[in-house]
Amino acid sequence: ARARRERRERLHSLLDRAAAYYARYLWESNEAARARDYLAARGLNESTLRTFRVGYAPSAWDKMLLGSRQAGFSEDELLATGLAQRSRQRRGSLYDRFRERIMFPLADSRGRVVGFGARAMRDNQPPKYLNTSEGEVFHKGSQLFGIDIARRPASRAGSIVLAEGYTDVLALHQAGIENAVGVMGTSLTDEQARELERTARTLVLALDADGAGQEAMVRASRIAAGRRLELRVVSLPQGMDPADLIQRDGAEAVRERVGRSVPFVSFHVDKVLASADLGDAEGKDRALAELRPVIAPVPPSVLREELIARIAARLGLSDQLAATLLEQQAAPAA
Ligand code: GTP
Ligand code: MN
Ligand code: MN
Ligand code: MN
Ligand code: MN
Repeated sequence: ARARRERRERLHSLLDRAAAYYARYLWESNEAARARDYLAARGLNESTLRTFRVGYAPSAWDKMLLGSRQAGFSEDELLATGLAQRSRQRRGSLYDRFRERIMFPLADSRGRVVGFGARAMRDNQPPKYLNTSEGEVFHKGSQLFGIDIARRPASRAGSIVLAEGYTDVLALHQAGIENAVGVMGTSLTDEQARELERTARTLVLALDADGAGQEAMVRASRIAAGRRLELRVVSLPQGMDPADLIQRDGAEAVRERVGRSVPFVSFHVDKVLASADLGDAEGKDRALAELRPVIAPVPPSVLREELIARIAARLGLSDQLAATLLEQQAAPAA
């Protein structure tokens, strides 16, 4: 047990050292001038970038490797942390996994680095994001980007804002929304939901306003169901994510939208209504069938009445009739 703990300590210190190396490389190397310009052009300032320990990985194939070896780390440790990988062609020599990329350190809730998300700077350098692969220290399914920085503000505020991407979390933080974390993609896992539940009572979803993001909100609600999490949704302009909005309209615009978040159920009703074909009676019946389970868990309340009134208006029914139809059990399949 002691040996295992010591190994973990060494792996963490290797990863912390790597993060510090990449950060220094971002701020000090000539090679990273383009990356500094890119980040500045995206509206991210130096203080934000330093808070999140953002860095840059050199284009060379072995800079990280050589430095880490000189500091006394073994090949095995470089592989276990995912910083290096073994080449197939060149008879098993190691090379740096991350090259010519902007480095976002991924930390655990105590701030210890466990991996990296690495962004390409050009569109012709796929994948757009390269992550540390699953391994001894890094577990994507339980990782929340920025949790080390957002944890205290979130527990103080009683709410935590969930965005998709690294740049969203940085931009939100810079806009004064310091209780923001990133899910690193679109699907929330059960482990992440558990961590969120431990941190705050209200989970404010600020996922991308595109098809994938909107579907992910519905999936997230299923993951959060049964947990002590009150779900709310931030509405963003079509096609945008929080970072896009902040860059276009400024910090106040996103603060205002986060402040106007709506209960998840309200978002869900609007989403169903927006995609329903309400051209004839059968289409309306199908929409009602889809809305029935959405409305069912909402207790008698002003919110429930408002949702029913909104549905009634869209379907051209009286509130009374809409309420009756929404409360009926679905008929058994013929
Ligand atoms: P920017 O283009 O830098 O603004 O990134 P974004 O965060 O807006 O990207 P997007 O909405 O496409 O993706 C959201 C998040 O999903 C990213 O921040 C990553 O964590 C993850 N992601 C996106 N693309 C990839 C990919 O190609 N590979 C991996 N592993 N993760 C990705
Ligand atoms: Mn997206
Ligand atoms: Mn719940
Ligand atoms: Mn995005
Ligand atoms: Mn983006």
